[in-house]
Amino acid sequence: MDLTLKNIFQTYEDKMILDDVSIKVMGKSGIALIGPSGAGKSTLLRLLSGIEDPISGEICLNHHEVTHENKHEYFKKVGFVFQAHNLFPHLTILRNITLVLEKVHGIEIKKANKIALDLLEQFELIEHKDKIPAKISGGQAQRASIIRSLAINPEVVFLDEPTSALDPILSHEVLKTILKLREKKMNFMIVTHEIGFAKKAADYVIFMENGKIVEHGEVDILDNPKTESLKKFIDNVSYDI
Ligand SMILES: Nc1ncnc2c1ncn2[C@@H]1O[C@H](COP(=O)(O)OP(=O)(O)OP(=O)(O)O)[C@@H](O)[C@H]1O
Ligand SMILES: [Mg+2]
Repeated sequence: MDLTLKNIFQTYEDKMILDDVSIKVMGKSGIALIGPSGAGKSTLLRLLSGIEDPISGEICLNHHEVTHENKHEYFKKVGFVFQAHNLFPHLTILRNITLVLEKVHGIEIKKANKIALDLLEQFELIEHKDKIPAKISGGQAQRASIIRSLAINPEVVFLDEPTSALDPILSHEVLKTILKLREKKMNFMIVTHEIGFAKKAADYVIFMENGKIVEHGEVDILDNPKTESLKKFIDNVSYDI
């Protein structure tokens, strides 16, 4: 994917959240967005996915300028996965996936079913297709959310700490699913605290602190950080308990 941000500013209640963020990343497929709590990572992801508008600045993803006006079209081209799954609780896993295809993308139900069943098969959730979210594990539900975001064949999937609500074992299965995205050369951008995972899954890393991008580059910056801030951050999140 190609990503260009020009002079992005965002504030909430007079507090500067993103402070003149600019970056150009070309031809990468997996981008990891890392940084301490409150750095502005989720805010940046929401802007990139069109969920929220910046107060000023330009956002361009592939050939799409992300603006308030063209949001409706843009939403059809990107997927978003949140910290906790947001499947519809009263619908089966299969229907959770087909509903969006049918209602938002106007795909007829027969084709929607085929797309959903293919994905459920590929991502090893087919046996749970007729269950409602409450009857599967948190990890499986999060994987179903990821599959749902893939069903529209998006240009990019945005994932905001998709494992933070899960225990380590369930996290592991979700992270494996995301590694599969990588194998399939899907474009994604993920906010994560898991440095080891970022090294495996991403081909580019953006490190933020206090509303600014402090360092960015190929994943090897995680082994050889140039800035003191990134070095400190890695030391802090990599400790063993
Ligand atoms: N809707 C909002 N209204 C007011 N302040 C907000 C809002 N969303 C975020 N903030 C503030 O913006 C700052 C950046 O938040 P953001 O959620 O983007 O950080 P983050 O890097 O994702 O942190 P974390 O790792 O804890 O998820 C924080 O100080 C937060 O309190
Ligand atoms: Mg966040």
